[in-house]
Amino acid sequence: MQRILVNCALPYANSSLHLGHIAGSYLGADIFVRALRLMGEDVLFVCGNDEYGTPITIQADKEHVSPAEIADRYHSEHEKTFGKMQITFDIFSRTTSPVHRKSASDLFLRLYNNGFLSENTMISPYCPTCGRFLPDRYVEGTCPYCGNTNARGDQCDVCGRILDPQDLKDPRCIISGDTPEFRETKHLFFRLDKFQDRLESWINSKTNWKPHVLEFTKGLISGGLKPRPATRDMNWGIPVPVEGYEGKVIYVWIEALMGYLSFAKELSVKRGDPDLWKRYWEKPETRSYYFLGKDNITFHTIIWPAIVMGLGDLNLPYDVPANEYLEFNGEKFSKSRGIGFTVESMLSAVDSNYLRYYIATILPENGDSNFDIDEMQEKVNSEFISKYGNLLHRVVSFVVSNKIDLLTRKMDPSDQDIISRYFQSYGEYSAMIKNVEIKKALKIWLDLVQEANAYVNRSEPWKLVKTDISACAGKLYTSLKLLQILTVMIYPYTPEASLRCLRIMGFEGTIEQAYSTMSHESVSFRPAVAEIPFQRVEIKNVNPNSLDLTVGKIEKVENHPDADKLYILQVSLGDRKIQLAAGLRKYYSIDQILGKKIIVVANLKKARFRGMESEGMLLAADDGTSTHFLTVSDSVQPGTKIKIGPYTFNGTKVVTIDELASYKLLVTEKGEVSATLGSTEGILLAGNEPVRPESPVGAGARVR
Ligand code: 2FM
Ligand code: ZN
Repeated sequence: MQRILVNCALPYANSSLHLGHIAGSYLGADIFVRALRLMGEDVLFVCGNDEYGTPITIQADKEHVSPAEIADRYHSEHEKTFGKMQITFDIFSRTTSPVHRKSASDLFLRLYNNGFLSENTMISPYCPTCGRFLPDRYVEGTCPYCGNTNARGDQCDVCGRILDPQDLKDPRCIISGDTPEFRETKHLFFRLDKFQDRLESWINSKTNWKPHVLEFTKGLISGGLKPRPATRDMNWGIPVPVEGYEGKVIYVWIEALMGYLSFAKELSVKRGDPDLWKRYWEKPETRSYYFLGKDNITFHTIIWPAIVMGLGDLNLPYDVPANEYLEFNGEKFSKSRGIGFTVESMLSAVDSNYLRYYIATILPENGDSNFDIDEMQEKVNSEFISKYGNLLHRVVSFVVSNKIDLLTRKMDPSDQDIISRYFQSYGEYSAMIKNVEIKKALKIWLDLVQEANAYVNRSEPWKLVKTDISACAGKLYTSLKLLQILTVMIYPYTPEASLRCLRIMGFEGTIEQAYSTMSHESVSFRPAVAEIPFQRVEIKNVNPNSLDLTVGKIEKVENHPDADKLYILQVSLGDRKIQLAAGLRKYYSIDQILGKKIIVVANLKKARFRGMESEGMLLAADDGTSTHFLTVSDSVQPGTKIKIGPYTFNGTKVVTIDELASYKLLVTEKGEVSATLGSTEGILLAGNEPVRPESPVGAGARVR
């Protein structure tokens, strides 16, 4: 038995989980864990929320609430979402937990005492307007490496490099928009440089890692490692446990990584076995895996291993099978930019087993992959349901309706061949899983499903039932044996569906028993009713790529110099600003619209109105006598994309005013706005709340 620790990157507790998270780390990890446990390995599966740092405080600032409130909200939401996705950690804790606060503080002190944290002054961005230092994400600017103009002070999302704020060109404070000054401040630096040689030889010993992870890491190490600031000037975090650092906290990345260890300790206490964690962290034969997306590689292949080396006597990562990105229409899923789907919105349209199945077929294990709703529907219906579910149903309903007594079976010796072939394939499947090739292993399953279909067709039980009932029972029994193996193999991918299938087959044991009796010659199947295992997925065929409807905030209003009906608005769409011309002058004074949230058609063909450019259009309801702009509540952030059902209006191609007119947008009885997108009808939503006209308008009013 192999002892295995599986850690999953801790999601930030600042927004809903989206499909990119699931594909990037959690689904693969959950499948890996379930499969290995079934094979009898001893696995501990650990995760929790990352609740400190600027990602959380920035969200709190936006919503005018405390960081603790944000962390609480998303902690309970993430727990629920993982539950619905059947992603089952042994512990899902949080970095604000008392156990972690103490543990991270102690570990930090140990690094300090071991000489791996040295004091140095650094030049940090300080915003004179805000009167404070600007940690990490509070400053943005241009990446010196790739030129991305929206790089953050801690990292560039485009090229993946870790940055220091002073690396940024044209830095700006994200709160005031002003250019920060650089002032001196004292910090403790983690001496990555002291680990240069050890990291180098450790990484060179890694022959089993994915090439893209290995190459990326080797490149960074060979470029030379420098000390990195390990403390921050802010108060939302774990205080630096060293004298002279009052008012500063441990840098969130250093502290969050320590969460893996803290949470294992926390679980040990919960299980009443305080030393349990040691078996997973101190025994060198234990293998530890870290599942994460490629933007987190550096932290797990350089910084965390260096911390572990600096602490001494703990296991280094055995493998970091980082995934690449899941894209949606060619763009990376991004919660901040509203690209792609949240898990919750997708689950309102499809069953979690189906979503797991589809995502498993497109896991970005060795390259970016694309999420496509039509493809999901097609794969689930034609592979999972038609080939597997329908086969199971055909066999079971034949046994039930013909009252076949499987105990009277006469086995055809040649049937042993197909069962043996299945075992051989099972061996390849399990080797792939152990090698974290989750997507490839699923392909083996699908091939076996095809073979099982061919077997049943060729066996023709419907003929045998009339001529040789025991031979017929033999063929059906073999079919059920094949289905037993298939159901065991698909269990890690679609756990709940697989358990349901076992029950429908009349197998009365657990999944573990189904696994351990795969090779037994006399397994009892007693199907009683021919229940249909799966309903087909019917996601109405829509083109979610047509309009881009984005929440904007009016930041400036001026009269158009030459058109007395028009205002010229400067509107923030979160990450960019645009100018709009709007015919609202007759209905609203400048004060009535300044600062208001509006809905912008952001991919409308640019137009000029008497010399002034308009880069989009705001939506307003018009009942024939007056015009009411559409709005959302204060808590919705500029940049939020409008949705309808699980679809996001995040079109990228430019639309014309005529195309826009073909979308029927109408005010409903409830004062919401209904829309038709392809054949889907629904209500425009911003987050979870409906978009409404700013003041009541009669039902049926047209929105344009
Ligand atoms: O990128 C992220 O979402 C980080 N919250 C991952 C942290 S992983 C580790 F540090 F715990
Ligand atoms: Zn960059």
